[in-house]
Amino acid sequence: MYVNLNKKIVPATHRYIGEAADILKGGGLVAFPTETVYGLGANALDPAAVSRLYRAKGRPQNNPLILHVSGIMDASRYAGLNSTAEILMHQFWPGPLTLVLFASDKIPSVTRAGLDTVALRAPLNMVALDLIREAGLPIAGPSANRSGRPSPTTAQTVYEDLGDEVDMIIDGGPTTIGVESTVVDVTGDLVSVLRPGGVTVEMLEEFVDLAADDEEFGYRSPGNLHRHYAPQIPLLLWDPSKNGDGIFVRVEDVPWCYMGLSGTPEGVREPMKKIVFGSVQDYAKGLFSTLRDLETLCNVIVAELPEDAGLGRAVRNRLEKAAAPE
Ligand code: TXA
Ligand code: MG
Repeated sequence: MYVNLNKKIVPATHRYIGEAADILKGGGLVAFPTETVYGLGANALDPAAVSRLYRAKGRPQNNPLILHVSGIMDASRYAGLNSTAEILMHQFWPGPLTLVLFASDKIPSVTRAGLDTVALRAPLNMVALDLIREAGLPIAGPSANRSGRPSPTTAQTVYEDLGDEVDMIIDGGPTTIGVESTVVDVTGDLVSVLRPGGVTVEMLEEFVDLAADDEEFGYRSPGNLHRHYAPQIPLLLWDPSKNGDGIFVRVEDVPWCYMGLSGTPEGVREPMKKIVFGSVQDYAKGLFSTLRDLETLCNVIVAELPEDAGLGRAVRNRLEKAAAPE
């Protein structure tokens, strides 16, 4: 049980979802659960509400927002669909896949950060879907963290970061996937992966042709220009297949913490806290909350990079962003 001091955190009941929909229609901000991370919602069609959302997060204005919609029909009102998009939507919606498409002129420029495209997704979460339907609006929803911080996977974390800025936080419990959606650009002939996430590259490849060069050039989403997800203490990345155990020399004399899949190697001094996940799915699910927990306990975090495949790609991508120099 959490202590809800100011009543901004509310349970996901029909009554509160109705109130939240009214707040959105009135230009307010509502944090809501999805299957990936919590989103900070605003009416995507209301430029003033969207501007308020950017300010609340401290988000750079050149980083466009994802619009949360209820499904394919809803999506077709806000973007030009093509056959590739429809295949992917049929296959993976509702779910952790965001599609970048040419935007309809109904979408205000501030929502698109001035681009001619817009990112859309239908989340696999009943509370989020109810809220979208109840509001009758596309909900602009970046992750509900202060810009640069690890994304929130619980209502309490949203409150810690944005409690003063948000009008209501709907508590849907901890999110199930833990890392954000996969973002794909489907405006060209080939599908480009802009951000790896809950729908893996291997899953996409079963249905569409992917552009081959994305990883060489780095993921090209505007959001990837920024340092992200960073804990407040140094984060060192350990890739057992590449940099061996040498990295542990750097934590010999400091209070350090470990998170990863294989545990700490033999001969290395025990960390203050060791979080060993049983699977890459559990690693993804616990990634952001563990970064937030460990930063309050130790001086340095050593995080193990999982194998660069499946959901491991998304975990690696978030860890690399979190460890990037400012
Ligand atoms: O799982 C998720 O996607 C979560 C939940 C709340 O749905 N949302 C989320 O939003 O992660 P945000 O704003 O933190 O990340 C959106 C990503 C950014 O990297 C942004 O640059 C990219 O999507 N994006 C949005 N619109 C785009 C566009 N038109 N073209 C290319 N990338 C776009
Ligand atoms: Mg984010």
